[in-house]
Amino acid sequence: MEKEIIEERQGEIIVQESSAKNMKKLFLESYGCQMNFSDSEIVASILNNEGYNTTTQLEEADLILLNTCSIREKAEQTIRRRLSQFNTIKKRKPNLTIGVLGCMAERLKTKFLEEEHLVDLVVGPDAYRDLPHLLKDTEDGRNAINVILSKEETYADISPIRLGGNGVTAFVSITRGCDNMCTFCVVPFTRGRERSRDPHSILKECRELVQNEYKEITLLGQNVDSYLWYGGGAKKDFDKATDLQKATAVNFAQLLDLVATAYPNTRIRFSTSNPQDMHEEVLHVMAKHENICKYIHLPVQSGSTAVLQRMNRQHTREEYIELLDKIKRIVPDCAVSHDIISGFCGETEEEHEDTLSLMKYARYDFGYMFAYSERPGTPAHKKMKDDVPVEVKKRRLTEIIDLQQKLSLEKMQSYTKKVHEVLIEGTSKKKEDQWYGRISQNAVVVFPKTGNTSTGDFVKVLVTDCTSATLIGEIV
Ligand code: 5AD
Ligand code: SF4
Repeated sequence: MEKEIIEERQGEIIVQESSAKNMKKLFLESYGCQMNFSDSEIVASILNNEGYNTTTQLEEADLILLNTCSIREKAEQTIRRRLSQFNTIKKRKPNLTIGVLGCMAERLKTKFLEEEHLVDLVVGPDAYRDLPHLLKDTEDGRNAINVILSKEETYADISPIRLGGNGVTAFVSITRGCDNMCTFCVVPFTRGRERSRDPHSILKECRELVQNEYKEITLLGQNVDSYLWYGGGAKKDFDKATDLQKATAVNFAQLLDLVATAYPNTRIRFSTSNPQDMHEEVLHVMAKHENICKYIHLPVQSGSTAVLQRMNRQHTREEYIELLDKIKRIVPDCAVSHDIISGFCGETEEEHEDTLSLMKYARYDFGYMFAYSERPGTPAHKKMKDDVPVEVKKRRLTEIIDLQQKLSLEKMQSYTKKVHEVLIEGTSKKKEDQWYGRISQNAVVVFPKTGNTSTGDFVKVLVTDCTSATLIGEIV
């Protein structure tokens, strides 16, 4: 770090490390899931210690990092297009370093360096601690790569630098990786084995957020319900744990209870829940704590047991329905959302109809819907035929989206003419004089900025109207 003379007194020169002035600039862009956005905050923290400040101005960057997503082919295409845009900047600025992080880095490994000549640096999701060394290699003119996956890494001790947030809501990651091996999914290959983070470090990060006036924390993982802390290591190695480790292990329901109890004035959310791992105990903890938001993101992928089997999901349609009934019984006002894939290998018209009928039964609040996109290296790619024609996938997807829109409208209408507690997250994007925030069930509300209110306040809002995506109301 460079020193700067700040004062000359009686021949004595006072110097100060002028970190802010001489810091290098990092432009960090994230794609894909919330986990990637959360990881980018860890990367920003690691690189901050190396003298990098983040910038939103591409032109002033010394280092460009793209935190990438491989979940569908379209995501990868978008990232490739973005990388080629950087081409022009690199031509003008040869000292600029460009790196890819995340799932695409892990999936494509050295291919990235060979095919994408633009890229100097390739770093997988478990190798971010190595970034300082890797950057030294690039400074010396060498390409650098680390895509080693870990059974231990949770970045537990790293305090993330919150990027581009609203100062009110934040993510805290609790697990990494996924062991489920759904046949369509590339995540187990790009993010490795499932492991849980030390609960003490989770609570510490939550405490820091609360001290910094954050009002809502989302506990994050590919599969939060399978959270299991027994002293470190992969979930699959739990069998090898000592008796003491087993007796003192912390599961997700216990973790959720700990966090909600420790921070009763903070809203707690969690994502994502996997139907096969969601235990009743979690629902009781949700019902017990007012500050745990009444919302579960519960991907189903398909409403047909046969398709679920081909997807290697570990539950049937009937078991999923039982779980929905249990949620309604234990947490009656709970909102539920889904992920659904249309046109998975071998999907028949009847199987597609099963998905539509399940959606009608569930009366989902919301959903993320996708056409199946074959991913190289996944079990489905290796063993099954991607045989549903693109037009059929698209038509089925449209039917699913149209139905969801109707269900969402119904759900939003059911929230009207009622008063809800809303956390103000910021100014509405469309109207300067309106706030936007969320109700416990995660629906977005917009309402006029009346009274002495500001971002981060909890206010009571009477919902008077809605669209299928937004509630409209006024502070009461
Ligand atoms: N094709 C389409 N959608 C996929 N998802 C995961 N893999 C694929 C794929 N190959 C969807 C699933 C998952 C969500 C994060 O992305 O619905 O729940
Ligand atoms: Fe992928 Fe299935 Fe794991 Fe979700 S649970 S990340 S869909 S393998």
